[in-house]
Amino acid sequence: MMQTVLALETSCDETASAVVQLKGGKFHILANFIASQANEHAQWGGVVPEIASRRHLESIPFLVEQALEKSGLTFSNIDAIAATVTPGLTGSLLVGAITARTLACLHDVPFLGVHHLEGHLSSAFLNEKHPSPPYLLLLVSGGHTELIHVDRELSYQRVGFSHDDAAGEAFDKVARLLGLSYPGGPAIEEIAKNGNPKRFLFPKGRVSNPSGGFFPYDFSFSGLKTAVLRKVENLKESVTEIPVADLAASFENVVAEVLVERSLKYALDYGLGTLVMVGGVAANKRLRQMMIKEASNKSINIVLAPTAFCTDNAAMIGTAALLRLKSGKSSSSIELGVSARHKLDQADLLYEAIPPF
Ligand code: KG4
Ligand code: ZN
Repeated sequence: MMQTVLALETSCDETASAVVQLKGGKFHILANFIASQANEHAQWGGVVPEIASRRHLESIPFLVEQALEKSGLTFSNIDAIAATVTPGLTGSLLVGAITARTLACLHDVPFLGVHHLEGHLSSAFLNEKHPSPPYLLLLVSGGHTELIHVDRELSYQRVGFSHDDAAGEAFDKVARLLGLSYPGGPAIEEIAKNGNPKRFLFPKGRVSNPSGGFFPYDFSFSGLKTAVLRKVENLKESVTEIPVADLAASFENVVAEVLVERSLKYALDYGLGTLVMVGGVAANKRLRQMMIKEASNKSINIVLAPTAFCTDNAAMIGTAALLRLKSGKSSSSIELGVSARHKLDQADLLYEAIPPF
């Protein structure tokens, strides 16, 4: 059986469209477009929600047109239309979701609302080999740092999370205080190539458990950001030039170590033989290399989202919709709205006749 979806992603500052086809058990990306607003938000040091939704509105008609044109298809070949509906900036989500619902009505095909984090997870299915449960999912993006135990397809149990900043947010904040551009992840990665990752020892933020000890699988990155800030302030008093490359490399290194150590600890403690890593931060080379090396030392199988599909894109949203269709969900309610927050373990509700929002 062959199924083809048109997918839209507008949860943050990238407007994206894609046409994805499931054929012979494989996902084929027939078109994939991203209009990034990063340059415009860069001058503010982060995403400005009002600007983001306006730009989505301006870009989306062109992106839909381009996706169809590139795929060589027309609406008569499209089996369903999907869009991210949660979590994200509501004004931004609305643009993609309303466009998708309108097109679905016009062309009389099902609409599927997709959970953004299930979208990220689905990017791992763009590899030759698909992850098969049980596995541990490490989801590291600008808004989330979560460890999710997936015991069967589409069933999620969150077993670890960040109590303050997400890993990507830490990259963005540290980049800003080092005077680097937004988004911070790629900027830190670039300059860190020439830095010494062992020069500065930054803390591996841990979260204390009120009943004693620490939560072994949780994360905290806000103390790390403060530690970098303090170090920069101290250095300013003693040196004329701040060693930005060494600071960036040392920061990147400790984030990677924490993510690798805690994920592998959970996988070992709970006997999971496979670890899947997705999300914007999963594009980081140092993190990818460290994860591959340490996991192989512990005989854990690693599945990484392809680098090109780690940061926000619509191909992963189309893939998530196809996985839902494959599981027997035929559509979301056309009344399904958008929501800034919605837990991943409740993603099933997006396909209920009476929608959760
Ligand atoms: O998944 P994503 O595109 O959007 C969210 O859903 O949040 O992730 C964006 C985040 C940003 O914080 C960005 O700085 C970070 O991912 N990021 C990276 C890299 N590329 C993007 N962090 C570290 N290294 C990278 N190469
Ligand atoms: Zn994302």
